[in-house]
Amino acid sequence: MKALLTGGAGFIGRWVVKSLLDDGHEVWVLDDFSNGRKENLADFGNHRNFKKLVIGDIKDTRLLNEIFTSNKYDICFHLAASINVQDSIERPTVTFQNDVIGAFNILEQCKKHHVKLVFMSTCMVYEQACNEEGIDENSPVKPVSPYAGSKLAAENMVMSYYYAYDLPVTIIRPFNTYGPYQKTGGEGGVVAIFIKNKLANKPLQIYGDGTQTRDLLYVEDCARFIVESGYSDKTNGEIINAGLGKDISINDLAKLVAGENGCIKHIKHIHPQSEISKLLCKYSKAQKLLGWEPKYSLEEGIKKTEEWIKSNNHR
Ligand SMILES: NC(=O)c1ccc[n+]([C@@H]2O[C@H](COP(=O)([O-])OP(=O)(O)OC[C@H]3O[C@@H](n4cnc5c(N)ncnc54)[C@H](O)[C@@H]3O)[C@@H](O)[C@H]2O)c1
Repeated sequence: MKALLTGGAGFIGRWVVKSLLDDGHEVWVLDDFSNGRKENLADFGNHRNFKKLVIGDIKDTRLLNEIFTSNKYDICFHLAASINVQDSIERPTVTFQNDVIGAFNILEQCKKHHVKLVFMSTCMVYEQACNEEGIDENSPVKPVSPYAGSKLAAENMVMSYYYAYDLPVTIIRPFNTYGPYQKTGGEGGVVAIFIKNKLANKPLQIYGDGTQTRDLLYVEDCARFIVESGYSDKTNGEIINAGLGKDISINDLAKLVAGENGCIKHIKHIHPQSEISKLLCKYSKAQKLLGWEPKYSLEEGIKKTEEWIKSNNHR
């Protein structure tokens, strides 16, 4: 299969490239390096099925037309996006342009060339979980940030192409994902930032009171879910969650990373109005449609992430 992966030089994208290559597919990556890194793809540069890294922007419709016309993809995994919730509140235009207009441009190309689209949405579109059953795909959505609003807007456009043009599309909503290759600074995720601070003997900083919970998905489980959503026809026209199926408060996560005697500091939340107090995934639909379930426990995932951050710092 010929696959185009947008955002393939980013954290999750890097693992999707690996999964696609491991499964014997030909891969093209489109990334503008606004948050991605060439080093993330260093392991694959010489792989015979890694066809091309195109450095470019999903807002560049001429470039999109050129690569879709000349390469005749079978499938597009659309991961490129502005991903930072705080940034989206402070600079909504950038997020809107990348996450809505950019997604629309990709959708148009998929329609023109009849390419299946897997659209990467997020759990951040949901309203908080209200019980221990967790959030399923019929749970209410609530766009508490322009990031979530943009993803929902793009999701609606994607689904409209399924109904209006019979385009094979799948919308996936992974929960918060962590693991090796995630940035450890401001653009990173909570697990990577906590580990980095622990290793540097700095306090782990928690926004707000730390009782908010997250369902944390290890990145290799996430990548397997993404590619399998693309391989199956059963997913066409569907919205599908993936997560660990367990949530943990940020206070407990900090203790798990730093140990009981680790130094933890609570600081004022920058945008408390956009916090989601409980995120817990119910992934039974992914299990039923794809036979997918997570393989890595949180403890195993944290260990692998910590080993990677340590070895990466030595390089
Ligand atoms: N990290 C998570 O916890 C998580 C959870 C659910 C969904 N997602 C979604 O998964 C996708 C990947 O997230 P990630 O965490 O790997 O983030 P990331 O920032 O590492 O990856 C996104 C990539 O897209 C690229 N990009 C951004 N704007 C672009 C543009 N205009 N043109 C071309 N490339 C562009 C960036 O350079 C980056 O490499 C995003 O769509 C995000 O919304 C992330």
